[in-house]
Amino acid sequence: METSAKNIRQQERVFDVEAVRRDFPILQQQVNGHPLVYLDNAATSQKPNAVIDAISDYYRGYNANVHRGIHALAEKATTAIENARQSLANFINSPAPEQVLWTRGTTEAINLVAYSWGRSNLKPGDRVLVPILEHHSSIVPWQMATESTGAEVVPVPVTPSGEIDMVALDALLDERVKMVAVSHISNALGTVNPVADIVVRAHRVGAKVLIDGAQAVAHTPVDVQALNCDFYAFSGHKMFGPTGIGVLWGRRELLEAMPPWQGGGEMIEQVSFAGTSYQGLPYRFEAGTPDIAGAIGLAAAVDYLQHLDRVAVAAHEADVLEYTLAQGAAFDGLTRFGEADHVAGVFSFLLDGIPPSDVGMLLDQQGIAVRTGHHCAQPIMAQYGIPGTVRASFALYNTRAEVDRLFEGLAKARRMLG
Ligand code: ALA
Repeated sequence: METSAKNIRQQERVFDVEAVRRDFPILQQQVNGHPLVYLDNAATSQKPNAVIDAISDYYRGYNANVHRGIHALAEKATTAIENARQSLANFINSPAPEQVLWTRGTTEAINLVAYSWGRSNLKPGDRVLVPILEHHSSIVPWQMATESTGAEVVPVPVTPSGEIDMVALDALLDERVKMVAVSHISNALGTVNPVADIVVRAHRVGAKVLIDGAQAVAHTPVDVQALNCDFYAFSGHKMFGPTGIGVLWGRRELLEAMPPWQGGGEMIEQVSFAGTSYQGLPYRFEAGTPDIAGAIGLAAAVDYLQHLDRVAVAAHEADVLEYTLAQGAAFDGLTRFGEADHVAGVFSFLLDGIPPSDVGMLLDQQGIAVRTGHHCAQPIMAQYGIPGTVRASFALYNTRAEVDRLFEGLAKARRMLG
């Protein structure tokens, strides 16, 4: 018995990419007459059957509003969404489920913090540090919050290789800094930022740290307690879950001190025209009917990821990315952007003399999906003096054979357009 249990555990540790690919029905199709090569995972990942079925089961079997009804379907839906919250809490090692707030995604999560925490904590003279490589959703909400409070957003320099300049960060960190907003992994370059180290440095001057984890959760296990961050935001759709659902995790004492940011049903305790009182965590930040199907689908994505050996997944992803980077380095006329020591999931580049959108269209004709443009990260593109790049971004189901297809496609682009 013991031996066979051990064998099963060993089998589970082996990552079978072909078996994983069969879990994702969308990957089994032809696009423009070619088998689809989906390399736009940083924009959104594909969904396994387990996620699609969980959403469908909810709508087919127990669709009802939550926290409101006493009938059987309402109770089943309420149990499902609260079980989903617990799954997400376990996924990121939250000390408690009520520190997991449902949002529409990373963008809404960051806006929630900037609006609620920002407007009640920032004052003239205060600073919010934002590295230059951040996504617009980690820049603009802080510009809005600082405009209304008299505080200031200060960019943190990034080195030519696409890493946060830690010496410059240290020089900027003083008692005026109240928040550091930083991505775990850059969507435009793939840089894995040293977020735990940044948290230590920021906390020394009393600043809080909000980590944008949108690009990280599908690639690396996240432990908010080990990171010791103050807020962590991520989206469901980039980790094999549905669109329209995401999570803001926050430190309990910070969330408890923050005012609500949207009013409506669900977030109140008592309403009268004389005055209204609000619920505690998590509901005070969840006005209106939540995305119930989304939360259930996201919990199914968590289950899906957790049934895989994430060490084996990470090794597979690292292998595919290294293979890509080696081919990129040997490809004439290709310039890569972002050459940090530690990268994940992203290969961002230009072909000499060929606009990125033309490369993208030619790849699309060959069934290869990439993203082209500024990737919602115009400041880092401006630093490189370019309007944008071609970005191939990877997920656990991508293979070396697909990377070969990408470079065959690029060779064709170079022949036809170069
Ligand atoms: N932020 C997403 C991306 O990088 C949409 O493509």
